[in-house]
Amino acid sequence: MSFSFNGQPVAAHAGETLAAALMAHGVEGVSLTRDGEPRQPLCNMGTCFDCAVTVDGRSLVRSCLTPVEDGMEVHSWQNH
Ligand code: FES
Repeated sequence: MSFSFNGQPVAAHAGETLAAALMAHGVEGVSLTRDGEPRQPLCNMGTCFDCAVTVDGRSLVRSCLTPVEDGMEVHSWQNH
């Protein structure tokens, strides 16, 4: 299966989380600070929000808690 991240295709395995798939793909900047600096998943258990992304228009989705679905459109989430 696959999904897009910031417009680029990412291959994924069924049952893994978005965060795991993005890390396996070597993505930097899963989310972004107010200044646009990259943030990466940290706790991997839903508490820090450093893995926040936008999924199919839904903002502030924690990628470490979200299973991959084929065809998802995922973007970095930026803190404003
Ligand atoms: S990595 Fe901390 S909430 Fe997802």
